[in-house]
Amino acid sequence: MTAPLIIAVPKGRILDEALPLLARAGIEPDAEFHDKKSRALRFATNQPGTSIIRVRAFDVATFVAHGAAQIGIVGSDVIEEFDYSQIYAPVDLNIGHCRLSVAEPVETASEDEAAMSHVRVATKYPHLTRRHYEAQGIQAECVKLNGAMELAPSLGLSRRIVDLVSSGATLKANGLVETSVIMQISARLIVNRAAFKMRAAEIVPLVERFRNAVGAGNAAA
Ligand code: PRP
Repeated sequence: MTAPLIIAVPKGRILDEALPLLARAGIEPDAEFHDKKSRALRFATNQPGTSIIRVRAFDVATFVAHGAAQIGIVGSDVIEEFDYSQIYAPVDLNIGHCRLSVAEPVETASEDEAAMSHVRVATKYPHLTRRHYEAQGIQAECVKLNGAMELAPSLGLSRRIVDLVSSGATLKANGLVETSVIMQISARLIVNRAAFKMRAAEIVPLVERFRNAVGAGNAAA
């Protein structure tokens, strides 16, 4: 019997864009996936032997890196933050566009960072934050949060935050402005490297279907 194929998708905003893409690639989760009351985390699909799991974005990378899921959809921010050697990211899905930025209160945003040797930053991205500041010769002390980073400056946890920015509405609502962009982000298809080799007969055509689904989406836009 063939082992099940598990596709990990992230909860949250990317999912709304990822579902039509999955459908164009021929994969549709069962009705329970769309039932908001359901507490299930693993769902059957229209493809026999293929299941979808719905987890937090950072956990998509962890499930795929460890081979618990063979394929996933996740932002390039998460891929770079973890830098797992076991993850291969063959397709830019052209969805989930946003950026990773430094932001701080409007009142202090004009102060020159270049003169500083040390900054304190609240973020979910300690690795990318340290790397960004190291490149400028600045040591970043990161306070790890898992959400609501925008609260940190007003409550005295840190003056700066590094977080995702899409429309900019969350920063604005919390009196913050973007002071630099660390990276532009889009969602990628990721594959566990070992699975890609061992189960090439199943996974290579599937990756190709995603590639074509992105092309079809671009043509329709
Ligand atoms: C993200 C991010 C910001 C917000 C930015 O959070 O962490 O808080 O979106 O978007 P905007 O620029 O359009 O306002 P999300 O709502 O995805 O939830 P999360 O805090 O669970 O990551």
